[in-house]
Amino acid sequence: MPEGFLFANSIHAPMTTENDLTARERVSSDVQSEVASPHGRFYVFEGIDGAGKSTVAGKVFEILKAGTDREIVLTSEPSDSWLGDCVRRSHREGVSTISEALLFVADRAHHTERIRKWLEDGMIVLSDRYYASTLAYQGAALKPLLGGMAVPWLKSINEPAIIRPDMTFLLLIPPETGMKRLSERNERTKFEKLGFLREVDKIYRDLAEEDETFVVIDASRSIEEVTGTIVEAMKGNI
Ligand code: TMP
Repeated sequence: MPEGFLFANSIHAPMTTENDLTARERVSSDVQSEVASPHGRFYVFEGIDGAGKSTVAGKVFEILKAGTDREIVLTSEPSDSWLGDCVRRSHREGVSTISEALLFVADRAHHTERIRKWLEDGMIVLSDRYYASTLAYQGAALKPLLGGMAVPWLKSINEPAIIRPDMTFLLLIPPETGMKRLSERNERTKFEKLGFLREVDKIYRDLAEEDETFVVIDASRSIEEVTGTIVEAMKGNI
């Protein structure tokens, strides 16, 4: 996939002239040309519930903070803005799967503007979840309604709302392990169903195959091993 293009089956057609592009394509390519700030670095942590990504992201943050004098931001989605509160409220109160997907993307569009600013200021940004969470979770949730169109639709609405991460670390564990870890922690999410988590896991794996910025991590190992592998991978990129 050429540099700066987010999705393999995205709407962008590289050989067309400016006149051939629709308004939507122009907006999309403008957004894409802003990606990969020359100063900052943007790393994302993804995985199913129970994969340990929040713990790992926190540890990577501490290690980087101790090892560099660059400024590091650890952020997450749903975000801590009022749009993130809307997402959490919709989770609690229940809205349609379409509304939920749109709320996640609205929160992300706002969050992306903050991330863009941090990157322009030369910071290293770590995000616990980003657009792949919507493709995987809402892709699975919308499958009964939209079938094979669910993920392509989610890709198209995310496209103008995101910045391409330098690396997306996909923490993989068997969905059964994720369920077990959640029940041990007494943690419940509305997505905590084995069949559903299997579907989410499958979409994540498909995304990793088609996107070269994904780094697949075996998260069934100890936190120290997982964290060490990620920091090592970042070293060649920072
Ligand atoms: P967390 O457990 O990482 O805090 O995430 C909260 C839940 O929100 C988790 O079950 C995954 C879900 N989620 C989505 O369904 N779509 C998204 O776009 C994001 C960011 C999270």
